[in-house]
Parts: sequence; structure tokens; C-alpha cells
Amino acid sequence: MKNVLFVASECVPFIKTGGLADVVGSLPKYFNKEEYDVRVMLPKYLCIKDTLRSRMNYITHFYIDYNWRNQYIGVLEMEYDGIKFYFIDSEFYYGGPWPYSNMYEDIEKFIFFDKACLSALPLIGWRPDIIHCHDWQTGLIPVFLNDSFQGNPFFHNIKTVFTIHNLKFQGVWDIKTIREFANLSDYYFTSDKLEAYNAANMLKGGLVYTDRITTVSETYAEEIKTEFYGEGLDGLLRARDNQLIGIVNGIDYNFYDPARDEALIVPYNADSMLEGKRANKIALQHELGLEENPDTFMIGIVSRLTDQKGFDLVNYMMENICQPDTQLVVLGTGEYRYEQLFRYYAGRFPNRVSAQIYYSEPMSHKIYAACDAFLMPSLFEPCGLSQLMSLRYGTLPIVRETGGLRDTVKPYNEYTGEGTGFSFANYNAHEMMNTISYAKRTYYHNRMAWDTMAKRAMEQDFSWDTSARKYEALYEDVLTPPPVIEPEETENAKSNTEE
Ligand code: ADP
Ligand code: GLC
Repeated sequence: MKNVLFVASECVPFIKTGGLADVVGSLPKYFNKEEYDVRVMLPKYLCIKDTLRSRMNYITHFYIDYNWRNQYIGVLEMEYDGIKFYFIDSEFYYGGPWPYSNMYEDIEKFIFFDKACLSALPLIGWRPDIIHCHDWQTGLIPVFLNDSFQGNPFFHNIKTVFTIHNLKFQGVWDIKTIREFANLSDYYFTSDKLEAYNAANMLKGGLVYTDRITTVSETYAEEIKTEFYGEGLDGLLRARDNQLIGIVNGIDYNFYDPARDEALIVPYNADSMLEGKRANKIALQHELGLEENPDTFMIGIVSRLTDQKGFDLVNYMMENICQPDTQLVVLGTGEYRYEQLFRYYAGRFPNRVSAQIYYSEPMSHKIYAACDAFLMPSLFEPCGLSQLMSLRYGTLPIVRETGGLRDTVKPYNEYTGEGTGFSFANYNAHEMMNTISYAKRTYYHNRMAWDTMAKRAMEQDFSWDTSARKYEALYEDVLTPPPVIEPEETENAKSNTEE
């Protein structure tokens, strides 16, 4: 049995702000249980729902010196859906209304988290062979493992795997501050280790010290080695190319299942898709006050409203998108200017634009089910899960060909009928608009091709089965000791022994 510990800052069903939580909450369930014991360690945020917090059981507590204070750390555990979760309790750090705050505070609390996780391990009666870190919040775990924790034999030979979910976020602050929080010597703050562009960089520390690096699609694994997508770390990623692979994300096919989805007014499968989607569309139009017409082309957006997701292109083209023959339903929160953009158009065209500026899991499912197309013109997209959810619900994604979007959406070919969506290559508003118009023409004038594609989209397999096998192979590889190469006997040595 190989023991693997996932460490992350968010995870469904406890706490979610984006796709990271979906991945950390679903992937552990898909490993071969005969061979892998995969557990998860998270902060015990006070903003986790009471119903979940009340099911956590206290295991132990201890104190560490951190940032001039002696800090209490509690460790709790809980089994959920067959997976064991550990929680690091510190009301001082995780008592806020949201998992993240400003960068300075986040740096302080996640360096604390990294230290607390490692300190807790010898006390929980379970030793991981691999610690699988996710994103910058866990960046110092491989560094600490190389440093102060080496003194304890418990940690010898624990390997690390580091998954980049989004290279944009790196946990960067001035060297003095991070050095003091981390209590690391000057040795670590040079350009081949944690220093980058005159600052200290937690993600870089993780990427330098981890045994293997993964990211969440094959295309993104290539893109981040280029200057455009590399966010200043492309040189390091090129240098570590031999230890870097892309493994595309899956989604939880049990949770995102239109045939059993309690959020839907009418559940449906690939055979009942046409009637099912029609009924869900009318129900959503009714609920949101849009004109009730099942034949109107409906585009959905469920997203963090940030630049990453391509909203400056959408902004530029809103007049053209919001034509009388189109409905647009947006669910999202984020940058104020984008929230206002959608509110403005919803006010102007109440019959055909709906701006739902909040976070709601059930509403997201209703949108994935009711819409005909799903718009995701990202500037960059490490993987993207929303397009996978759309495919699962028979809603055709309109995407830019980048990262995971390129790897998971096959563009429509009107000559062969192939495809599961629509895509464009350049980050250009007109290219996006042409693609939306092409999708709309196909919907209105070649419905048979559209419906065939929607059925095909539902039949794609983006469950975790294939990708979990790839992670298992990676774990196998990282745990296999390098072969011992015996020095070849030289002619001289041979003749010496013969004499
Ligand atoms: P990212 O992690 O970059 O935000 P992903 O596509 O990987 O993008 O994952 C986004 C996840 O967050 C999906 O599960 C999506 O349904 C969900 N999501 C985003 N915004 C909202 C919202 N306002 N309400 C409900 N779910 C949302
Ligand atoms: C990040 C990325 C997104 C990816 C998710 C899960 O939030 O922005 O593309 O799907 O992580 O890996």
C-alpha cells in the first residue's frame, strides 16, 4: 500500500472558490484503493459549514513558535465519501469569513499551514510516502522537507509531487518577510531557489524542491515553458522539463450527472436530452424572467469574472452578442467592472440577458443543463472544468484554443460532422464573435448537426478514470529508486585481477 497525502487550501465539499477545490475533492476517490491510501489535509476554516465542522473529530494538538508567537495547532479528522480528511485548526489564522484575504495575510497563514501540516504528520499515526502539493499555498512544503524537517528520520525519503493549477498565482512577497515567517536561512533566497525578480516566491520554492511537477493539461504543460504563459517562471519550467508532465483534469461524474441531478427540474440522459434540455431551458427562463421560448439560442457563462477568462473580449462584443435571437445567462462574481457590465446589459435587455452575480452550486447546474452553448474565451486556461461540465450536460462549449480548453473541446467540422464544440485560436474579439455567430448559425440552420454534437458531447468521458491512472504511474515512478549503476570494469582493472 502506498500512502499519499494531498495538501491544499480548498476542497469540496468543505470550501470552494474555484476548480482547485473540485479537483482536490474528487481525484482522491478515483485511485485504486487496493494500492493507494490517499488522504487530504486542509485548513479548518471557520467558514466551513457547521454541518461539516461538527462531524470533525479531535485527534491532537501542539504548539509551534511562529512569527513571534507561540501558536496553538489542533488536528482533526473526518471521513467523507470514503476519504480520510485531516484539518489543521488555528482560529487565529483560519477564522475569517472567506479562505483568502489580502496577499500579505495569506502568505503568513499559508507558510504557517505548510509548517503545521509537516509538524502534525508524526502525530497522526500515518506516514505518507508522497506529499502531493497543490498550488502556491503549499509551496514551502518541499522546501521545509529539504530543510528543518530533515533532522527527523520520520521525514527521510518522503517524496513530493507538485501540481500547478494556475501559474498566475505564486505567493510573492519581499524576501525579508518570507524569510522571517519561514525561518529559513539566507541560503534559500538566491535566484536558483526562492528568489525571483528581487522578491521571495513560494511557488518557485515548491517547483525547485519538489521531485515531480504536474499541471492540469498537456497543452498548459507546454505553454508554461514559453514566455507568454510562463508568468516569469518559464525558464525554471524549461529547466525542469524532464520532471514536468501535464495530466488533464476530470470531473466527478457522479456529482455532475444530468440523469441524477437534484438541481434540475427534469433530469435527462443522452437519449432523453432533447426533451430534457428543453424543459430545463423553459424552467430557467421562467425563473430568471427571460422570454420563455425553448427555441431561442441560449449562451451560458459560469465563471470567476476575471481577465483570465477572456471577459475583455466579451466586454468588447456585448452589443453583438446580445442580439434579439440570443439569450445570455451569466453566473459569476469577481472584478467589479465585469459584474457591472453584465448588470448593465441585464437592465437594458431584461428579456434576453440575465446577470446572476453571486455564487450558487444549484444555479450553476441549472445553467449547464438549460443552455445550448457555453462561452469560455479564456486568455489562458490551465484546464478548465466548466467546459467539461457543459459537455456532460450536452451544452456545446465555445472556447479559445488554449490550455485544457484546447485538449478537451473538439471543434465542429461541418464537412465531417465531427466535434463537440466551437473554438478559435487568437485572443481577438472579432475571432471570438465570428465563432459565436458560426455556432448560432449552426444551431438555427443545422439543428441536426447541433443535436448530434450535443449527444456526442454527453457521451465523452472526462471522468477521472484515465487521469487517475496517470497519477498512479507518476507516483510509481517517483517512488522507484534510481537504478544503481555499477562502474563498468575497465580493461585495466580486469587485467589487474587476472594477474
Ligand atoms: P477556475 O478554477 O479557474 O475558476 P474552472 O473551470 O477550473 O475554473 O472551475 C470553476 C469551478 O467553479 C466550476 O466548478 C464552476 O462551476 C464553478 N463556479 C465558478 N463560478 C461559480 C459561481 N458563481 N457559482 C457556482 N459555481 C461557480
Ligand atoms: C485553476 C485553473 C483552472 C483549472 C483548475 C483546477 O483554477 O484556473 O483552469 O481547471 O485550477 O485544476
